[in-house]
Parts: sequence; C-alpha cells; structure tokens
Amino acid sequence: MKKDWNFDEMIDRSHTASMKWEPEVLNRVFGKGKEGLLPLWVADMDFKCPKPIRIAMESRISHQIYGYSLTDPSYYSALISWYKRRHQWSIAKDWILTTPGVVPAITYMIQCFTNPGDKVLIQPPVYYPFARSILNNGRQIQENPLQIIDGHYKMDFDDLEIKAKDPRVKLAILCSPHNPVGRVWKHDELEMFGKICIKNNILIISDEIHCDLIMPGHKHTCFPTLSEEFAQHSLTGIAASKTFNLAGLQQSSIIIPNSNIRARLFTHLENLGFINGVGGTLFGAIATTAAYDEAEEWLDDLLIYLYDNFNFLKTKLEQGLSGVKVFDLEGTYLAWADFRKLGHDNEAQIRLLEETAKVGLDHGNWFGDNGTGFERFNIACPRTILEKAVESIIKALK
Ligand SMILES: Cc1ncc(COP(=O)(O)O)c(C=O)c1O
Repeated sequence: MKKDWNFDEMIDRSHTASMKWEPEVLNRVFGKGKEGLLPLWVADMDFKCPKPIRIAMESRISHQIYGYSLTDPSYYSALISWYKRRHQWSIAKDWILTTPGVVPAITYMIQCFTNPGDKVLIQPPVYYPFARSILNNGRQIQENPLQIIDGHYKMDFDDLEIKAKDPRVKLAILCSPHNPVGRVWKHDELEMFGKICIKNNILIISDEIHCDLIMPGHKHTCFPTLSEEFAQHSLTGIAASKTFNLAGLQQSSIIIPNSNIRARLFTHLENLGFINGVGGTLFGAIATTAAYDEAEEWLDDLLIYLYDNFNFLKTKLEQGLSGVKVFDLEGTYLAWADFRKLGHDNEAQIRLLEETAKVGLDHGNWFGDNGTGFERFNIACPRTILEKAVESIIKALK
C-alpha cells in the first residue's frame, strides 16, 4: 500500500476549537497572557488521522441523515478482531458497552460501584482526571504512590498491601500503560496488583486507552487476559481515540466479562440517559471501525516516528540541561522528565517554562504531589515543533 501520510507535515490547528491550541483555553489553564504558548500538553496529536477514517466518515456524511443510531455490528467485529490480532485478547461482543470517552466512563463507574465516602485507590503521579472524578463525586482518594527505584518507576506493593486492607477502598484505577510515567506494566506487576486488590474485594478499573501506543521492546498485557479471576473482577476502558487521533469524536468502550457487573453498569448508563445503553456516537463508531480495519500500517509507522521523537527529546534535553532526566518511554506518547536537579523551586521552574521558553507542558504537580518538579511532554507532533520547544526550554533553563 502506498503511504499517504507524512508525520512531518505542519498543520495549522488554529480556529478549529482545538483544546490544545485554543488561546482562550491556554489563558484559562496556564494563566493570563499565555495564549502564545507552544502547546505540548493535552494528549492529542498534531497529525492528521489515517485517510480511511476520513473516507468512511465522508461516505456516511453524504447520506445527510444523522438520526438516532445503534452501534453498527461492524464496530464490534472490528474491535474484537483488533484486540485478538494486536493483544491476543478474545473479547465477546456482549462484554462491550460503549461510552462517550474513557474519562466520562470512569466517572460513571465510580458512581455505579462505590458510595459517597468510599475510597478509590490510584497510583500517583497519575492522569489527574482520576482524582477529579473521585473527589467531584464525593468519594475519597486512597493513594498508592509509585516509587522511583534505580531510575525506573515501580509499583509499591508493600504500601498497596496496607492501603488495600482499608475496607472503605471499593475500587482501584489502574493506568496501563501509565500516564504520565510511560510504564508498560509487566505480567508480574499486573499479577501482584490484581491479586492484592481482589484479595481485598476491590474491583479494578483498568484504563488501557494507551494500549496501542507501545514502544519498541515492550509488550502490553491487557489486564483481563492474565486470568479468569482478573477478567471477572475488572472493567477495562479502551478507545481508538489516542491511537488514531479521534478524541473529539467521543467514542470508547468498556469491556466487562462479568455479566452481573456489566448489567449494573448498563442500568446506570440507562439511568443517565443513554438509550439502549449506547454511550458512543455515530461518527465515533464509524471512525473507530475504519481505524481498526484499515489503519494498522499507519499506526506501525506512527510508532516509529514517535519513538524517534522521544529519542530526540531525551538526547537533546539531557545534553542541553545537565541534571535533567527523561524517563524511558515504554508506552504512550507522553514523555516524563525530572527537572528537580536544576534546583529551581516549582513556581520558578513553571515561570521559566511558560514565560521565558513559552512552552505549554503538563506540570508534574498536576499529577499528584510526587510529580512536583517533573514535566510531561506530549511528543505527538511534527519534529519541527518538538525541536522548537526543546531549544526554547534549554535556552530558558540553562
Ligand atoms: C490514561 C487516560 N485515560 C483517559 C484519557 C482520556 O480519555 P477520553 O478522551 O476517552 O475521555 C486520557 C487522555 O489523555 C488518558 O491519558
């Protein structure tokens, strides 16, 4: 197949209501006067999605009637075949519930499987909407912080054993692969995590939205594939949105092998107003289907480009700013860097990045207290953008 994509292509995203680029959002999130920041924050990509997706959507657009829609059977077969092919996971069609995003789904699951006052376990530094969903719904956070051992992030199982014993902990959210630290959890890590949770009657949400963004030398393991017991005690959130740059289409799936758990969530979704339990969207399902069926080669190429971007970032930043450490990227397109050895306090570091370098990054403290002094780089952009950001940062912080 002739390659019709070019990840080096610079695409103007202004006036497209892009959350990542919109000046009004930059001002709101980073503070007044920040509309000119070069945005390497929100996790979407500055690349066009694969062409078969556009073609599939255009073909449906031309019909000109966009009425209430079921999820087409082709969506389920494309998803099932993709997970079988890429992840050796056999998913049954009736395990799949569609939702308008993994983050909304996490909120629905918290509402459905916990009561106000209950605790939900998370592993900071971790994707900050988890904490927001827990707190906004009147639940409490139980932290099981990750540890850095010999320069690598690890789960702290001794701490988990203690934290999981608290009977108020009803739910745990696993971020796999982990945003922001870039880990692709290994079999034995997932096994330990699962066993400790299940032993303590804790239901597991496995957020695997980044599972297709795996760097060379690593292999993602879908949590429910580890054992029947794990499958029966977990709900797994997946989507094609990160992988193929479709986040604005609000389509995701929650895979739930346990029929009782699935029925409870289905009822909750219906109570929230999702008719027939359909929580996805017409175009989200069409795009996802085309992505899984027709864009595998594009993804394989994307992964090479992303890994080159990562190596560029790591080399340049570590050479340019002595003491900065960029953690190995095993999965996701979000690189995590430790700036603490530069010796700036957090506010000064943020000021230098935003006001002098004029680059918009996700600051580490957003992900939890143990993220303070770290920065997250979204490297899913043309190399030219990354080069510009890295140069400015080195100049500003040197
Ligand atoms: C771990 C994780 N979960 C969920 C999401 C967002 O999911 P959605 O856009 O489907 O709500 C992100 C986006 O960055 C993420 O990193």
